[in-house]
Amino acid sequence: HITKKAPPTEMIVLVGSPASGKSTFAERHLKPHGYVIVNRDTLGTMAKCEKAAAKALEDGQSVVVDNTNPDPASRAKFIQIATKHSVPVRCVELTTPRDVASHLNYFRAILTDGKRRRIPDVAFNSFRSKYKAPSAGEGFDEVIKVEFVPEFHGHNKTRAR
Ligand code: CTP
Ligand code: MG
Repeated sequence: HITKKAPPTEMIVLVGSPASGKSTFAERHLKPHGYVIVNRDTLGTMAKCEKAAAKALEDGQSVVVDNTNPDPASRAKFIQIATKHSVPVRCVELTTPRDVASHLNYFRAILTDGKRRRIPDVAFNSFRSKYKAPSAGEGFDEVIKVEFVPEFHGHNKTRAR
């Protein structure tokens, strides 16, 4: 039979606007491989995110930073933490177009996660105004762009005819 080697410990920094699909990507593709998800909405502050990321790497676990991370300044701290722990750091950018993200945001609260408030337009504008495309020059070992493919997870409560 085939024995799969465990993936090496690493850090993945996500980049993407509100409702671009970051958390869904992390849940679907990284959590099953043991990645610890670090998210400011859950942890409260950036300082806590940094602490949780460092702790995961110290424990030998891979970590995914699930924040919007729009600019080099917000990514630098995490690159630093990965470098300090001698693990590779990759960037996965969700390139979801704004109108698609905006649409997902509008329906997310109703269809998938009733506890979540809709993110206001100002948050999309803020992301856009800060946004600078991630590049290897910042210190990433690899930068990967992921195009949005709809999953309609939890959206299938009514049957199509
Ligand atoms: N979604 C989808 N298909 C995908 C990815 C996401 O239909 N391939 C839907 C999710 O079910 C959710 C919405 O799009 O209703 C937003 O996805 P989410 O992962 O929550 O986006 P985030 O980027 O994590 O948003 P935020 O920054 O607000 O946390
Ligand atoms: Mg999210």
